[in-house]
Amino acid sequence: MKKTIRDIEVKGKRVIVRCDFNVPMKNGVITDDTRIQAALPTIKYLVEQGARVILMSHLGRPEGEPKMEFSLKPVADSLTAALGKEVVFISSPTVVDDDVKNAAAALKDGDVMLLENVRFRKEETKNGAGFAGELASLAEIFVQEAFGTAHRAHASTAGIADYLQAVSGFLIEKEVKFLGDALEKPERPLVGILGGSKVKDKIAVITSLLEKVDTLLIGGGMMFTFLKAEGCEIGKSILDADNVDLARKLMDSARQKGVKLMLPVDVVCAEEFDNNARTETCACNEMPKDMMGMDIGPVTGKMFGTEIMAAKTVIWNGPMGVFEMPNFAAGTKAIASALADSGAITIIGGGDSAAAIKQFGLEDQMTHISTGGGASLEFLEGKELPGIAVIEEV
Ligand code: 3PG
Repeated sequence: MKKTIRDIEVKGKRVIVRCDFNVPMKNGVITDDTRIQAALPTIKYLVEQGARVILMSHLGRPEGEPKMEFSLKPVADSLTAALGKEVVFISSPTVVDDDVKNAAAALKDGDVMLLENVRFRKEETKNGAGFAGELASLAEIFVQEAFGTAHRAHASTAGIADYLQAVSGFLIEKEVKFLGDALEKPERPLVGILGGSKVKDKIAVITSLLEKVDTLLIGGGMMFTFLKAEGCEIGKSILDADNVDLARKLMDSARQKGVKLMLPVDVVCAEEFDNNARTETCACNEMPKDMMGMDIGPVTGKMFGTEIMAAKTVIWNGPMGVFEMPNFAAGTKAIASALADSGAITIIGGGDSAAAIKQFGLEDQMTHISTGGGASLEFLEGKELPGIAVIEEV
């Protein structure tokens, strides 16, 4: 078990907290503050305990340059509003400089400051020891709270732990508990739902889930590679041609393990990749040659829904169709609604599926929506994430 901020004394100590404030923005305005909200319990707890809090994060990919469109200033303003107290922010192009060091040294118990985007420094993504040491020099304790970036071995997520005691915040604790329990000690039946476009991107997660789940439902763009492997005509649908054999092997492996792997039986097709294109719903083995599959069909939605209603735990990663286009969102919505109506423990593996749940306004009805996209995928693949590996054990 990993040590958390509850296990240590933080009063009067300078505590540097790696958050994932990589939030979507449009014209400098934050369009979704979920990741900021998710870090608040840890920040508030540290403030209440009298720690001197130094927050850090990346935003986007400025590639080691101080590009001001990637400044964390909007995040500092959002935190100031959310905490109801000023969050000191110094927009240093080098992230750490004398002004930043002085500000950190001047923090009083319960004060909070935010550093500038750690990716303004080239050394960050290279896990440069020098930069990790500079960050560490600001504080006495390192708190890992950036689940969304825990799959990156960077200076601020991993290297810093060579210099400071590393413990986890509440978000990491929660993510690891929900995702970990769903994989390691699930209430059964355990149903996995996978979507997304390429089989290649999901091989590791399919392989890992085949060892854990009772039922695996496959939708999204990658269903066509599986359908092709079953000998179906898939028209102009997206095909991961290099992985048709692999799809066949994965289906064989499921059969050998006694896992019920289910493919869609009907599909919504369109003439073009366009919301307004002419559509047709047809059986999976009767897709017109000149059309492409855009979503699972209504019969599949019901069929998958029945499996979800019978589940005790469900893990979902990847939408069922092109849900960003309203005419192809019904399949993903049917799955999201079935999750909301089921009494199962429902775990949403971040990224596009989390965005879909939010689009349908169902986020309050899920047990856990991960704040990690790539990180939750790697977690589901059974990998140890470097940002979690560095946290001390109790
Ligand atoms: C994410 O949004 O997935 C994380 O913040 C990691 O961002 P990255 O893919 O740029 O490392």
